[in-house]
Formats: sequence, structure tokens, C-alpha cells
Amino acid sequence: MAQPFPKHPQLRGGFAPLQMECDVNDLVIEGEMPKELNGSFYRNGPNPQFAPRGGYHWFSGDGMVHALHLEDGRARYRNRWVRTIKWHKERAAGRALFGSFNPLDNDESVAGLHTDGVANTNIIWHGGKLLALEEGHAPFELDPHTLESIGPHFYGGALRGPMTAHPKIDPENGEMLFFGYNANGSISEHMTFSVVDQSGNLLRSEAFKAPYAAMVHDFVVTRDHVIFPIMPLTGSLERAMRGGPVYAWEPEKGTQIGVMPRNGSVQDLQWFRGEASYVFHPMNAYGTADGKIVCDVCEYPQAPLFPHADGTPGDPKKALATLARWTFDLNAQTDQYTVEPLGD
Ligand SMILES: [Fe+2]
Repeated sequence: MAQPFPKHPQLRGGFAPLQMECDVNDLVIEGEMPKELNGSFYRNGPNPQFAPRGGYHWFSGDGMVHALHLEDGRARYRNRWVRTIKWHKERAAGRALFGSFNPLDNDESVAGLHTDGVANTNIIWHGGKLLALEEGHAPFELDPHTLESIGPHFYGGALRGPMTAHPKIDPENGEMLFFGYNANGSISEHMTFSVVDQSGNLLRSEAFKAPYAAMVHDFVVTRDHVIFPIMPLTGSLERAMRGGPVYAWEPEKGTQIGVMPRNGSVQDLQWFRGEASYVFHPMNAYGTADGKIVCDVCEYPQAPLFPHADGTPGDPKKALATLARWTFDLNAQTDQYTVEPLGD
């Protein structure tokens, strides 16, 4: 018998998981839907199938995809869990078998099992494929009409290692740019940078080392540059083996931001250094005629949702983001960048 979900802020209210999959063939519409408006809207998010094993973390709930299809003045809805290996194992067991980040928290029945992730963070349409994304693994392909799970997509074997949930699609040429972290299969400073053309062929993939192993959630692309922010939400399996957190806030490591020309390679990465802060998501970025790069980002004084390295919880007052503008001057002989608050 399934167990009730615990009282947890990310399992309640608007975040409460749906316990069903359903189809609504013809939704009631208030007013009138223009007949010319045809297409599909997809949404993805963590929706744990079973009450979590140990503490719940938002990032570890099973992906559930929702689709709203508009056609000829009518609207249809469908939702489906992504059928990952974890989902199948837990469905068969009737309970959660996997912990959040630490493999040592998993049930012994799945110890050492290689999984394809939770596919819970984002969903994109690129190269004629609908892909559910989660930054620790390869994209997971779904049928765009039925939401049936097709499985992990490795770009014909060319993709090795994980892909961020926040790739960038170039509006001018349709190329998709992305990175991966923990790229060698375990928690490490190994990263990759890849480009897929608009038809879905992986054109380019390069490996590089970040200054330290960190959770790298998102990145920045302008017309001419790729920017990799490495911020001190560090990952360490050794720390976890000693009973500490897998991911933790280590501000003494500072922030290091790699800037790479798009017409160059990872060999051309130029690293800038700054005070510790954390950014889950950038908002906008562009290059200027005088050789500067301007990035507007949602910046936290301390990474939210994660503890300090000793396991003590972070300060909720510092877990509030403000809009900040980073400016990198590529022509100045400096590894510093400026940070300017844009609002409170
Ligand atoms: Fe995100």
C-alpha cells in the first residue's frame, strides 16, 4: 500500500504531486479559442510517484510531462510520467527505492544500478524531437502526441555524459548549444560543451576541466560567446562518504566564470574570478561593440536549497535572488569582472 506524502513545502499546495495520469479530450473553454491557434504547450516538473525515501529534495522527484494541444478551436490535455528506470523499479516495488543525491541512501535492491535519471527539469522541442531534460543525464525522448516514453537520446551515440536542462537554441541558425558537468560519470570537475544542428545532428563536443567540481545549472550564450559560471555549490562524493552532503555551499572557493569565443574552442577559455555567489538562471546577455560582455542574472548571496559543507542548513535570508549585471571586459588585462545591482 502506498504511503502518504510527508508535510514538506515542496510537496504541498501548487507543488503537490498528482497521483494520476489522465486525458481530457475536449476541455471546456471560457470564451472562444481562435481556430488559427494550433500547436502544443508542454510543461515538465518533479512529481514523485511515491513518498520519498528519507528527506525530499525538489530536484529528485520523477518527471511528469503535461501537454496542452490546441487544434481547430479545441483544447486537449494529457499528462504522463516519464518512464525512467527509476520509475519502473519503484512502480514494481510499490515504494521509493532511490534517495535524492547520495547513492548510499538507495535501497539495497537497486545498489549500484545505473539509471537514466528523473527527466524532471525542462522540456524542449529541437531537431524534430520532444526531449525531457535533467542535468545529470542524457535527454529523454517522448512521443510529442501521446507522451509515450521512447527513452534516453544519445544523438546516435555521439553524446557521452549528461546534458544541462537549460540548453540554448540559437534563434538565427537553429543550433542548440549545451554543456554537461560531472561529464566523466561521477562527481568531478569534468565538463563538456556541445553543439547540435537544427536537424538534430551532434556537430561538436569538447571536454574541459572546471576549476572545481560544482553544480552547474545553467550557462549563458551570446551571438559571439559562451559563458560558463562555476559557482561554489560544490559536489563531493568523498564528503558524502564521510556522512556530509553531496552538494554544499563552500564560499571560500569563490566564483570562476569561463568565457569562450563561439568561433574558438575550449582551449580559448578565459577565466574571470569574483566573490562567491550563486546563479541558477541568467536572464539576458549580449556583447557590446567595444569588446564587453554584459550578463543580467538572478544572483543569490548563497545557494538556496543546499546546506553548508558541515551539513548545517543555509541561511534562508540569503536565499533570495536579486537582479545583477555582470560585465566582462575582454580587452582589459584583468581576470576581474564587475557586478552591479539592477534592483532589489
Ligand atoms: Fe532551472
